[in-house]
Amino acid sequence: MTQWLEKINSANSLESLETLRVETLGKKGVLTLEFAKMKDIPGPDKKAFAENLNRQKAEITEALEAKKIILEKVALEAKLKEEKIDVTKFNNELSTGSVHPVSFTMDRIVQYFQNLNFAVEEGPLVEDDFHNFEALNLPKYHPARDMQDTFYNKDYTLLRTHTSPVQIRTMLSQKTPIRMIAPGTVFRRDFDLTHTPMFHQIEALVVDEADKISFANLKHVLVEFLHHMFGEVDVRFRPSFFPFTEPSAEVDISCVFCKGKGCRVCSQTGWLEVLGCGVVDQNVFDSVGYKNKSGYAFGLGVERFAMLIHNIGDLRSLFESDLRLLGQFK
Ligand code: PHE
Repeated sequence: MTQWLEKINSANSLESLETLRVETLGKKGVLTLEFAKMKDIPGPDKKAFAENLNRQKAEITEALEAKKIILEKVALEAKLKEEKIDVTKFNNELSTGSVHPVSFTMDRIVQYFQNLNFAVEEGPLVEDDFHNFEALNLPKYHPARDMQDTFYNKDYTLLRTHTSPVQIRTMLSQKTPIRMIAPGTVFRRDFDLTHTPMFHQIEALVVDEADKISFANLKHVLVEFLHHMFGEVDVRFRPSFFPFTEPSAEVDISCVFCKGKGCRVCSQTGWLEVLGCGVVDQNVFDSVGYKNKSGYAFGLGVERFAMLIHNIGDLRSLFESDLRLLGQFK
């Protein structure tokens, strides 16, 4: 019997321990076979024989159980060691997404104006004639409506052609002073190297009591903003026309690619047009019922900014989901 106890004690795996259990206590195990001999033992010796066997059985069972606990612990430790994860290991193969250049640029601009205490407003993409045109001083049949080729729906709603209707919605629902930006998607029937039918604008509107807000305020805010976005560029205000501002201007910066010397991107002019702006037209205040107010507004194309910041030549490439382009913005 000691021979079996030694074997059990030196078992080195749960499998070999199980084999030993079968060989001793199993149906044909040595002890089971000993118990079978009981019937042939003469009466007076039966008790001693049985007691002896039971003691051996108890010793073996105890040894098997004790060894099992040890081997299970060893097996668990080996398994844990094998499955250990090195959380400090850096995986160069891991592929992650990246922020789209348009979102990146939009976030940057929105954050800049939020830091100046501008509120962020939103409006619907499906607009009506009143908010998109009429209230912005573009009466029906006004030729300036052609400036923005419009997608019309069957029910005479339209896809907003600019973020300026958010100016109207904000003034109709809020009191002055107003200092807001409206980032969002806009739509025009246009498609070429520099136009996509869907693009993004950021509108800004500042309104307060009469004579409080001037073109000088507008100019200061824009020059600071453009320096923040493009570095030490020259900024030029060029007289222009928008029905909803008077006076109106288009703003150019010296070309970020050739530093104003003239190149293909700026069509040899040395200047890049970046946004439209002006002092809010009195007719716009009239259409929202504002009396004795003054204000300025501007609107910019986010894609145009993204292209200039990241040196992207074809606007359409921003919307082709090409990973070779998007992967460069990680
Ligand atoms: N809404 C004009 C556009 O889409 C931009 C603009 C906004 C101009 C506000 C002046 C003031 O072209």
